[in-house]
Amino acid sequence: MKKIGVFTSGGDAPGMNACLRAVVRTALHHGLEVVGIRRGYQGLIEDDMYDMHANDVSNIIQLGGTILRSARSEEFRTPEGRRKAYDNIQKHGIEGIVAIGGDGTFRGALAFTAEYPDVRMVGCPGTIDNDLIGTDYTIGYDTAINTAMQAIDNIKDTANAHDRLFFVEVMGRDAGFIALRAGIATGAEAVLVPEFKTDINELIDTLEQGYVSKKNSSIVVVAEGDDMGGAIEIANQVKQRFQHYEIKVSILGHIQRGGRPTCMERFRASQMGLAAVQALMEGHRSIMIGIVHGEIARTPFDQAVKHHQEINPRLLEMVKILS
Ligand code: F6P
Repeated sequence: MKKIGVFTSGGDAPGMNACLRAVVRTALHHGLEVVGIRRGYQGLIEDDMYDMHANDVSNIIQLGGTILRSARSEEFRTPEGRRKAYDNIQKHGIEGIVAIGGDGTFRGALAFTAEYPDVRMVGCPGTIDNDLIGTDYTIGYDTAINTAMQAIDNIKDTANAHDRLFFVEVMGRDAGFIALRAGIATGAEAVLVPEFKTDINELIDTLEQGYVSKKNSSIVVVAEGDDMGGAIEIANQVKQRFQHYEIKVSILGHIQRGGRPTCMERFRASQMGLAAVQALMEGHRSIMIGIVHGEIARTPFDQAVKHHQEINPRLLEMVKILS
């Protein structure tokens, strides 16, 4: 193999740059040429690529976002779009690709490699949601939970000063990992996640108990994809039945997607980027690199995207015990 391509795709995540840096530097170390593809699959379709050298990834390990930029490509969902992408890959003589992204990225890779098996693709899990099978950590998750934790800490200060109940919405359209970790780390009274049905009566009971035990403020962390709706909807329902505290809502939104990656993020992203290039060189295709129990793991794309990682119900129980 002489030449590889690399792109970042889907929702950006802190640590993508660290992973990209590792991919480029590892490839160059082994004498491979590297092409950077801008805006994920859309860049492949539009032939938006450039040769990358060691200094193209200098001084980026600490940056959030992605210097290659990102996109969710509708055109790549069509056979015509994938054909254009393939033609451009051929034109540039790219033999293998490292795709840094999440569930949607690997679904795209699956469709593409089924049609064009001569292109090898290896993935690195880049999403703040941590919802892929085959890795204990996705790139971006650690930074996102720390960002959410700091924001909730700040909210707790003011909630306490004013005897208020806050509903804090965190990201996670399909997955509650951010909500659960950040909720436990901030001592939230309740955490609502998409994977489990929310019981409004149980939530009111929990809040009542907190009031009776003389808590003067409370925090409920809500994943945006909760089955009862987002924080605003749930707060409105609770308002009608629980009037001991003034209720406020705070939606953290995209601040969770940006920011400087944590130390562990940079470290793991670097490990995964290096392992992805090594896997391509060893002839692997259609696999996602991950880290399981501290070791590099390789999982076929079709398994990585098949199911979401499951929320451990004992952690939800832990929230109840500790609240
Ligand atoms: O996939 C990561 C994620 O941050 C989800 O948690 C969130 O629902 C979604 O992306 C938001 O995507 P966008 O920025 O495209 O609205």
